Amino acid sequence: MDRTWNNCRNDFPLLQEKVNDEPLVYLDNAATTQKPRSVIQASTDFYEHFNANIYRGVHTLSQRATAAYEAVRREAAEFIGAKSSAEIVFTKGTTDSLNMVAFGWALHRLGPGDEIAVSPAEHHSNLVPWQQVAKLTGAHLVYLPLADDGQLDLGLARVLIDDRTKLVALAQVTNVLGTIVPIKEVAKIAHQHGAKIVVDGAQAAGHLPVDVQDLDADFYAFSGHKMLAQTGVGVLYGKYDLLEQLTPFEFGGEMIDSVGLDEATFKEPPLKFEAGTQNISGVLSLGAAINYLLAIGQEEIARREQELTQDLLKQLTGLSGVTVYGPKIGTPRGPIVSFNLDGVHPHDLATALDLQGIAIRAGHHCAQPLLAWLGCSATARASLALYNNEEDLAALVKGVENAKEFFAHGLGKIE
Ligand SMILES: Cc1ncc(COP(=O)(O)O)c(C=O)c1O
Repeated sequence: MDRTWNNCRNDFPLLQEKVNDEPLVYLDNAATTQKPRSVIQASTDFYEHFNANIYRGVHTLSQRATAAYEAVRREAAEFIGAKSSAEIVFTKGTTDSLNMVAFGWALHRLGPGDEIAVSPAEHHSNLVPWQQVAKLTGAHLVYLPLADDGQLDLGLARVLIDDRTKLVALAQVTNVLGTIVPIKEVAKIAHQHGAKIVVDGAQAAGHLPVDVQDLDADFYAFSGHKMLAQTGVGVLYGKYDLLEQLTPFEFGGEMIDSVGLDEATFKEPPLKFEAGTQNISGVLSLGAAINYLLAIGQEEIARREQELTQDLLKQLTGLSGVTVYGPKIGTPRGPIVSFNLDGVHPHDLATALDLQGIAIRAGHHCAQPLLAWLGCSATARASLALYNNEEDLAALVKGVENAKEFFAHGLGKIE
C-alpha cells in the first residue's frame, strides 16, 4: 500500500461519494469510521469462498473458517499487546464488552460499601452498566473530578481512589472532548488499593498505539467499527486470571464443555464467553482492519491525526462566535473536537453542514453527565480518522462560516 495520506483515501470507496451534490467530507469518525476495500473484501471473500460455521465441522470449509477466525484472535492480541490470544474475547463491541465485565465480574464481587470510580466524561456505555451494578450490589459510584479544561484531575483521583474502591472504569480517550486519560498512572493507583481497572478503548484503538500490558489494564474494551472494521464486532481483553473469574452472561452452544440434564460445564476462556454462532465475517473484517492500520503504523496514524486535530482546533478557535470545548491548543488529545456556534443549535448547524456535504455529529454524544458539566445540552462534534486531510478541515471551517452567515442574515451558500 502506498502510505501517502491522499492515496490512502482512495482505499475507501465511500469517501468518493457525493452528498447533497457536494463531495462528501466525512467528519463523524467517532461514531463510526468508513471501511477500506480490504476490509469489505475480507467479508466478501468469506462468503464467496469459505462460508461455514466455525468449530463445529470436520469439513474443509469449516476448518478454514475456524483457522481464519482464530488467526484474527492472535492478530488482535498482538495489536493491543496482550500476553496471549487466550485473553481476547470476541464480542459485539465496546458496550457488549463492558457489560460482560459489569455483569460477569463486578456483579458477583461487589457489595455494600464498595466503590466504583468513574469520571463524568464517560460515554453512557461505560457508566450505565456501573450504575446498574451499584444498584444491584449496594456499591456506589464515585466520580473522579475533571480539571477546568476537561482533563481528569489526577491529583484528586489519587485522593478518591482508596481501599473502598473495587473497580475503576475510564475511557482512554473520551468521546466528546477527546481528552487522553493517563490510564497507566490511574492503573497504578487502583492496583495500590487492590482495585481493578477496566478501560473503555472505543475512541483509542485505531487512533493510538495501545499496549494493555504497559498500561496494566485489567480489562480493555473496543469496537471494530470505530477502527475501520464492520459493525457488530469488538473485543474484550482481560488478564487471563480475571477471565477465569468472569462468569459468562450468555449461555448456549459452543461455550460448553459437556451438558447433562441438570448441569453443564464450560470451556476455558475465551471460548466460554462466545456462546452461539459468532459474527465470523465481522471478526475477519476486524483482522483486515488491524492489518490495514498496522501497514500504515499506529504511531504514524497518531502523529498525523494529532497534527490535523491541532490544526482544526486552531482554525475553529479563530472563528468569532465559535466556542471550542476541552483542553487548550497544544495539549495532545484524540482526534475529536466539540464546539458550538453562538445562537445556533448544534442540530441546525449539523443540518446546514450536511447540506454542504459535510457529516458531523450533533447532540449529547451519549455523554449527558459531561454535557451537564460543560453547561450545555448539546454540542457539534467533528471527529477525524486517518483518511481526513487539510481540505476536509478547510471545508468544515468554510461550512461553519457559511452557516453563521445563513443563520445571521439568511444569506450565503446553503440551499
Ligand atoms: C468512548 C465510547 N465508549 C463506548 C462507546 C460504545 O461503542 P459501541 O456502540 O461500539 O458499543 C462509544 C461509542 O461511541 C464511545 O465513544
